[in-house]
Amino acid sequence: MSTVAVILAAGLGTRMKSRLPKVLHPILGDPSLLWVLRALPADLGGAVVVVHHGKEQLLAALEAWQKAGLLPCPVTAVDQGEPLGTGHALQVCIPELDRLGASQVVILCGDVPLTSPATVFRLCAAESLLLAMDLPSPGSYGRVIQHPDGRLAGLVEAKDATPEQLAVQRVNGGAYALPWPALRKALLGLTNDNAQREFYLTDAVAAVGREISVAVEICDPEELAGMNSRHDQAALQAAAQRRIQRHWMTEGVTFLHPDSTLIGPRAILHRDVLLEPGVRLEGTVIVGEGCRIGQGTVITDSVLGEGVEVRPYCVIAHALVGAGAKVGPFARLREGTDLGEGVHIGNFVETKKAKLHRGAKANHLAYLGDTEIGEGTNIGAGVITCNYDGVNKHRTTIGRNVFVGSDTQLVAPVVIGDDALIGAGSTITKDVPADALALSRIPQATREGGASKLRSRQKKGTGLS
Ligand code: UD1
Ligand code: MG
Repeated sequence: MSTVAVILAAGLGTRMKSRLPKVLHPILGDPSLLWVLRALPADLGGAVVVVHHGKEQLLAALEAWQKAGLLPCPVTAVDQGEPLGTGHALQVCIPELDRLGASQVVILCGDVPLTSPATVFRLCAAESLLLAMDLPSPGSYGRVIQHPDGRLAGLVEAKDATPEQLAVQRVNGGAYALPWPALRKALLGLTNDNAQREFYLTDAVAAVGREISVAVEICDPEELAGMNSRHDQAALQAAAQRRIQRHWMTEGVTFLHPDSTLIGPRAILHRDVLLEPGVRLEGTVIVGEGCRIGQGTVITDSVLGEGVEVRPYCVIAHALVGAGAKVGPFARLREGTDLGEGVHIGNFVETKKAKLHRGAKANHLAYLGDTEIGEGTNIGAGVITCNYDGVNKHRTTIGRNVFVGSDTQLVAPVVIGDDALIGAGSTITKDVPADALALSRIPQATREGGASKLRSRQKKGTGLS
């Protein structure tokens, strides 16, 4: 017997005005539903996501998160069919909850992303609990009616409420923990005899409250705020960002301009990290102690070792950057980039599937793709690994302490041995052995006085011929 979470995510989300299901809209790069799932404790008996509108997209997202190891517990999905209300959403979960052997059910909404793991943990640990909030303008939220001792006495949707009930400022946050046998029984007795002709989960929760004592906990409204519009999305993102930045400041991180900096929920920043204005970190990003990330830099799913300096305006995705490396300004590290300790990648250098060993340098204007570059090797300005022949990709392997002169094209597949030296402007199509000097140049022709002779021919209109 165990606690199982149910996440409601079948609604249409009309007010988002979007092709994307509402719960897949991102807050700091992570979809709302992923925030909800990631707040669940790992020892749950499972989580059931109720889907319908945008089902294909939702199932694909769940599979991708599962594969990426982002989900703390096993997650299954149940198709609600035409959504007939929150109570109906739970009714369609009855077979799945029975199959999972649920003794306790925790219910959350997929469009309420900022409920903290601590709050979800309290919910999971409670026997029967409803999360509420006190709002000065309670609007369309359901109203919470309590017994004098605080226990739940009833739940009334705004559209069904009397004027006295509408005046109640304590509202239902839509997050509950309830014993499954009591909730199951209440679900079987639901009707849609109300203003919205919907099967209300709130009626079932109120019915459970008549059988057993259901506690009411008042939460910070931010934790229970839902995303129903793009305005809500922006407000939630701002709230999430404040929370995340406060946390990392406490841990010893400097934000030079917090308002323009966006740090996702899965970033991990070590002490003495300094973030300049306009930095964005998305996905799983780990930034080592003492790193400085330059203005306007975007980093996605990457790991930076200690003391890395990323100068302004770099784009880094799916890359590893070794301790003490220097990157940018204006560098692009793409998927499969692996920079060793102290590597230098300068301006207008693009790397992809490129492993550069300790101390290697590519300081200006280069494309390094499908390549391994040995320790201490220097890649000159304008060097290109020609890795693609129009059909297949090929590798370029360069040894240690090699000097690759400026404006060299390395036509892959090609291997350059240790300590080799390639003259500037070469097109290298054949392997170069260790310690060899390789050059491929058209001999230079110089004609004394040729410039003025050419100019006079140009004036007569006979030009170069
Ligand atoms: C619900 C509560 C209300 C509470 C509010 C808190 C009910 C009847 N009312 O109202 O008391 O104050 O949440 O946010 O429960 N969903 C489904 N299937 C459905 C209907 C909804 O999966 O058939 C999902 C939605 O996608 C959403 C969640 O359930 O994630 C809440 O549904 P919504 O229609 O927004 O309920 P509210 O009217 O806001
Ligand atoms: Mg709602």
